[in-house]
Amino acid sequence: MSIRVLFLGEIVGKAGVQVVRQNLKALREEQAIDLVIANGEGATGGFGLGKAHSMQLLKSGIDVLTGGEKIYYKLDMVEFIDKNPSILRPANFPQQNPGRGVRYLNVGEIKVCVINILGNADFPRTHLTNAFPLAEYLVTKALEEGAIPLVQFHASPTAEKQAMGFHLAGKAAAVIGTHSKVLTSDEQILDGGTAFISDNGRCGSQMSVGGFEPEAEIEKQITQLPVRSKEYWEDTALVGVIVEIDETGKATAIEPIRSSLKEE
Ligand SMILES: [Fe+2]
Repeated sequence: MSIRVLFLGEIVGKAGVQVVRQNLKALREEQAIDLVIANGEGATGGFGLGKAHSMQLLKSGIDVLTGGEKIYYKLDMVEFIDKNPSILRPANFPQQNPGRGVRYLNVGEIKVCVINILGNADFPRTHLTNAFPLAEYLVTKALEEGAIPLVQFHASPTAEKQAMGFHLAGKAAAVIGTHSKVLTSDEQILDGGTAFISDNGRCGSQMSVGGFEPEAEIEKQITQLPVRSKEYWEDTALVGVIVEIDETGKATAIEPIRSSLKEE
């Protein structure tokens, strides 16, 4: 017995939400997916996750939404995240903060534990617990509970993400990076059966700057003014990786996917 887990890349803006709503259920069936984990912290205009968007995404076939440094950007999520265990915030925020960073669930006969961790580097507005000892602690705890640890590592430098992959190799079944919103081509199975990729890309516009309209992003670079990012719809797709895991908790395959928008 094995399970197939789809880790979708960060959902960016309305185009990202729409491509999930229109395509995910068919993709789940086509690819015989057992569990879908997606980063949702940019679903509402690219900055945060509102309650309404989170509910739409969970209804569209996502089992667990993960967060990052922007998870509390929308005020209604600060309240809602406590009520919905399917929405995670990074575990390294203070324990008493709204929400939780870990979700145990059963996939058929197999127990898994989804763990959301925020990286240490490049997040000047957050000052959290060091990601590395925390990740090791949570992964070890999951294994003691008889669950297969699946780690969504929301971090910026590829070096930090690769270091986390090797740190958890042979313990977690998957260490999947998010936040950069660009699909990297370093997917591999590390020693001990850990599926790894630095970044699993984005759901939304692929012909864009991180899912946003290029013109405004260029203006931001030239003027250094706080120009507002704009929603963008060019070349919309679902992007992510599918990880196959055997019943002993070892990953046997990791495969990137890109599935274009079907017209209604
Ligand atoms: Fe992020």
